[in-house]
Amino acid sequence: MKLLIINGPNLNMLGIREPDIYGRTTYNDLCDLIIGHAQAIGVEVELYQSNHEGDLVDKIQEAYGNTDGIVINPGAYTHTSVAILDALKAVALPAVEVHISDVDAREEFRRISYIRSYCRATISGRGVQGYLDAMDLLSQGE
Ligand code: DQA
Repeated sequence: MKLLIINGPNLNMLGIREPDIYGRTTYNDLCDLIIGHAQAIGVEVELYQSNHEGDLVDKIQEAYGNTDGIVINPGAYTHTSVAILDALKAVALPAVEVHISDVDAREEFRRISYIRSYCRATISGRGVQGYLDAMDLLSQGE
């Protein structure tokens, strides 16, 4: 099984950006955690991060036919992007939405997620552990 882990804008700044909200784990640390977890549960993993909406759409489209599931934290595009929702629908792969912070307990605008309706689950507010939990869900076929 192959999983694609997609991170959107500003998630490359993890560990530096607003550590009181997002913690001190860096993006590189997160990648190491994900790679280690993938080995532990016996799945292949590809990691991708971009600050650009169209690049995220391209990456989702590229997954068609060669990937079994997508873990996606679209960052701020969660709250604005119909294009990312449409790309997920286009490839029709199982997907789980992840947010490091508890988006429902923050500003009103963060409660809107365009991708939530498509995703099998939303994991929010569990820090970087949420990515690993999402991998578990997809690898178990949930
Ligand atoms: C985020 C929450 C979003 O509202 C925010 O724009 C992010 C990160 C999270 O992981 O908690 O960039 O998706």
